[in-house]
Amino acid sequence: MKHHRLTIACLVASLASPLALADAKKDAEMLKLASSSGCMTCHSIESGKPGPDGLKPIGPAWADVAAQYRGKPGATEFLTRVVQEGSNPYSSHWKNRVSGIAMPPNAVAITPANTRELVSWILLLK
Ligand code: HEC
Repeated sequence: MKHHRLTIACLVASLASPLALADAKKDAEMLKLASSSGCMTCHSIESGKPGPDGLKPIGPAWADVAAQYRGKPGATEFLTRVVQEGSNPYSSHWKNRVSGIAMPPNAVAITPANTRELVSWILLLK
């Protein structure tokens, strides 16, 4: 537990600047939720970070997700459903831009309400 908290503290410290959100408490809360829900095994926050072994990242950086969906009507609803139910490998939204073919369903790891909160936060990333 202690180690886990330390990891999160480091994560928050190293990510503090690119987030550029006014609410540091909210950032810390959302990063904690994301890591405890397993999202950070496949996603990074900042754009342009390579994946394991220098390959393309497994999932899209959340700053790229924000750039792609921000301002689109229904984006929060849509992405909440994709995160809960997983994505379709036959119609990847991030084909050739990430190494992962599809996102598995995350409903086992995170509630719909928490997913919605996390997705709303993701959409604000710069
Ligand atoms: C096992 C790896 C993995 C995990 C764990 C994972 N994702 Fe993903 N995620 C992906 C991949 C791969 C994609 C790209 C899917 C595609 O191309 O359609 C993706 C796409 C997304 C998208 C964009 C969806 C779209 O249709 O454009 C969001 C938002 C997202 N993930 C959020 C999350 C959140 C929040 C969590 C944690 C609850 C999470 N992911 C956990 C691999 C993962």
